[in-house]
Amino acid sequence: MSETRHHESDSQLSVRLCATEKDLEETRALFSAIFDFGPFPMWISDHKGTCLRINEALRRTWGVEDQDVIGKYNMFDDPVVKEQGFSPLLNRVFDDGESVTLRIEYDPVQFNQLTGAHREVKSVIEATISPQKNSLGEVISAIVLHKDLTPHQLMEEAKEKAITLMKQAQKREAVGLLVAGVAHEINQPLTYIRAVLECNLHDLTQQEIDLRVLGEECREAVKQVDRISCIIRHLRLFGRVETLSFREVVLDEILDSTLILVGHLLQANHITLKRDLQENLPCILCDPLRLEQVLINLFQNAVSALDTVEDKQIAITAVARDDLLILCFNDNGTGVRPDLQGRIFDPFVTTKKVGQGMGLGLSIVYGIIKEHDGDIQYYAEKQGSTFVITLPLKRAPNTPPES
Ligand SMILES: Nc1ncnc2c1ncn2[C@@H]1O[C@H](COP(=O)(O)OP(=O)(O)O)[C@@H](O)[C@H]1O
Ligand SMILES: [Mg+2]
Repeated sequence: MSETRHHESDSQLSVRLCATEKDLEETRALFSAIFDFGPFPMWISDHKGTCLRINEALRRTWGVEDQDVIGKYNMFDDPVVKEQGFSPLLNRVFDDGESVTLRIEYDPVQFNQLTGAHREVKSVIEATISPQKNSLGEVISAIVLHKDLTPHQLMEEAKEKAITLMKQAQKREAVGLLVAGVAHEINQPLTYIRAVLECNLHDLTQQEIDLRVLGEECREAVKQVDRISCIIRHLRLFGRVETLSFREVVLDEILDSTLILVGHLLQANHITLKRDLQENLPCILCDPLRLEQVLINLFQNAVSALDTVEDKQIAITAVARDDLLILCFNDNGTGVRPDLQGRIFDPFVTTKKVGQGMGLGLSIVYGIIKEHDGDIQYYAEKQGSTFVITLPLKRAPNTPPES
């Protein structure tokens, strides 16, 4: 090949040169077309990060003029880039020749100042910066491609808000369905206290007071008042919008608290509760109110499933195996409808009438168990259902076990 070249005449050489120049010209035109009129906002910087050229999409979408940025804007000097700690990443482009992607968040004032836009919300811009090298491998410029993630970000935030609201609504729904039972739980001791007071008032007026009996009755009345306070305190705590708060708790304690709210529901529906928790179960590191929310949902679902059954039973067993707590929640109700069995942990799956369930209970249960690094499975029984929950014993979520 080089032999042939040596023997090329001047005219042949100039023909080849012309062809190469034409190729180069065509490549340049193609690049310009892609760069200038491509759909994504792009710009080119020199080897020090200063803007050399911007494309039409950048002018249009960001409202930027050439004279505002060319030779003036430098990505290393951008206060937001500095503030969000991206400088080391930029060095990787210009010093090491790597391509990097940054996700930069601009508050509306910063964004509007930089671009002349009139946004009222935070902007999220993804910038992919790719170095261009010469034949010696030195970085001589960089192409920056922008993607405006703001609409996507707004959608995500709206979704997050909707999910939070839905979770709150489900909790209110669960507690709302228990209100009748809780009212009864409070009414009973109140009735007792009233009877004691009336009786003693009567004895007092008749001057027949027996101080020993009075003492005993007062002690019992105080106990009942404490019980009411406990229920109210618990309801308040449960209704609060809370953040996750983990502590070490034994399962018995969580089940007892749950029964404060659902105990009456079981009694009123003539349901026998068999409770078989292994003795001295180790603690679990959990948010007890959230686990209570799990149990309340399982109880409510079981109560509905037992509605048409004769001998209504719920059995709860718990054992510790290695570093796991295994909790089985069984009822001998109708069982989950076969066509729903693969989907019951999905939101809005329900067989209930409007006002009796939104189909969010089990999806929230699933979310809570996952927040605790645990798992929940549904097993259809010959008659009824079993939910098996596994939870790590005494280990903070998302932390590796101690070695
Ligand atoms: N223990 C159970 N026995 C029978 N079916 C159940 C049981 N638990 C849940 N299901 C079924 O799963 C559906 C979804 O439950 P859930 O997510 O709690 O929502 P909801 O109770 O509001 O319908 C219920 O409508 C019911 O059909
Ligand atoms: Mg439910």
